Amino acid sequence: MAAPSPRSPRLRLLLSGAVAALTAAGVIAVMPNASAAESTLGAAAAQSGRYFGTAIAASRLGNSAYTTIAAREFNMITAENEMKPDATQPNRGQFNFSSGDQIYNWATQRGLKVRGHTLAWHAQQPGWMQSLSGSSLRQAMIDHINGVMAHYKGKLAAWDVVNEAFNEDGSRRSSNLQGTGNDWIEVAFRTARNADPSVKLCYNDYNIENWSYGKTQGVYNMIRDFKSRGVPIDCVGLQTHFTGGSSLPGNFQSTLSSFAALGVDVALTEVDVTNASTSQYAGLTQACLNVPRCIGITVWGVRDSDSWRSSESPLLFDGNGNKKAAYSSVLNVLNSTGPTNPTTPPPSGNGTRILGAQSGRCVDVPGSSQNNGTRVQLYDCNGQSNQQWTLTSSKQLTVYGSRCLDAAGSGNGSAVQIYSCNGQTNQQWNVNSNGTITGVQSGRCLDVWGTGNGQQVQLYDCNGQANQRFSLG
Ligand code: G3I
Repeated sequence: MAAPSPRSPRLRLLLSGAVAALTAAGVIAVMPNASAAESTLGAAAAQSGRYFGTAIAASRLGNSAYTTIAAREFNMITAENEMKPDATQPNRGQFNFSSGDQIYNWATQRGLKVRGHTLAWHAQQPGWMQSLSGSSLRQAMIDHINGVMAHYKGKLAAWDVVNEAFNEDGSRRSSNLQGTGNDWIEVAFRTARNADPSVKLCYNDYNIENWSYGKTQGVYNMIRDFKSRGVPIDCVGLQTHFTGGSSLPGNFQSTLSSFAALGVDVALTEVDVTNASTSQYAGLTQACLNVPRCIGITVWGVRDSDSWRSSESPLLFDGNGNKKAAYSSVLNVLNSTGPTNPTTPPPSGNGTRILGAQSGRCVDVPGSSQNNGTRVQLYDCNGQSNQQWTLTSSKQLTVYGSRCLDAAGSGNGSAVQIYSCNGQTNQQWNVNSNGTITGVQSGRCLDVWGTGNGQQVQLYDCNGQANQRFSLG
């Protein structure tokens, strides 16, 4: 049985009551930033449980000016080219992870997490794959996903499973992959889920930031269809290239929240902005912070000189590694939000239960209680006696946003999200070897009293909110 909170539960209860009273009276809508302003992008984003990442090129890892900035500022890393199909399977059946591993090792040795990019894409296919079509290409795609995901199994935060599969008008892009049949995307996602059930599976695209744009609607409809049919998908990556003639649309936040309302995480995955407009950088950052399921922001390169569109000087550091005005605008937005509570409640649900799957419940709050200290009942999901919680590679449950616990996916075995509790960025959850939660290392919100299916869970004061909600997945 887990011991009571070591952090003066009585004091926290009193504090939570005070905050609840103030909140109920409409005095405060958002918790004040309790910590000093953070001085790096990663730390500032982590205040709300989010990450701030960058794309890294293996060829630049020998450049200390580059790596110093990258390691200092960012806490999520994407390989700019090194995990793409042409890099990872240059010859059919012969996988090569040397440059991808260089980046993976560099990142993880510094405690940085890694997003995988990308498995199935019409571009950057090796020559042998470009020449395939029909069922042989379909099989090659499946083999590629299985081969690459096996190598990185349990190690990555997310995979961009499918990249850029839509036309601007919302129809499917005509590609050799599309030529294998309209179901190629869902086959890719189903294959990916089987290959590594622990990693988040994302669809990633550009020009899907404007809610009223055809392409945005095309992708949205696909995600909605996938969720309704149980096709495994956990996240949508909005590349957010506000370069090459694109710019921040006024409805960007609506786009993010609309995708999120489908039951997926959203992330800004390849951000760059023409001439690093401070207002656009601040706006896109604020939009993410305003959407609880926007889990992080990645800029597409470190310095302007590293950018694929360097002539537009679109990044946060200049070619000499100096912080640009856009850097400060992003940092200020991240710091101004800090460890806050959500300004909007979690999507949908009646605030009483979390459903783990189409049928069968996972966690209940008895009597719809919102009282601190209320015990939560863990139920057997879908009749499975060996209830497991999907974990990150480091055996922790995913943390982000400003909420405490949510069912992230719709399918059995989908990740259960533990949100940033008590404004702590280093929220840690101990998990035993069979995947059940055993306790919390610091600032805890939830403890399992004992281990095993059906154990009761102790709800602690989360974010000092009396109206702590558990939303339906
Ligand atoms: O490494 C070779 C080098 O040996 C050779 O001398 C040189 C000659 O052109 O090419 C080098 O490879 C280039 C590679 O970047 C590494 O710099 C390729 O030509 C070039 O095509 C490739 O561009 C990449 C592009 O994807 C390809 O589609 C960019 O670096 C990369 O930033 C970009 O990233 C994409 C995302 O994956 C998906 N979203 C859009 C984004 C921007 O296009």
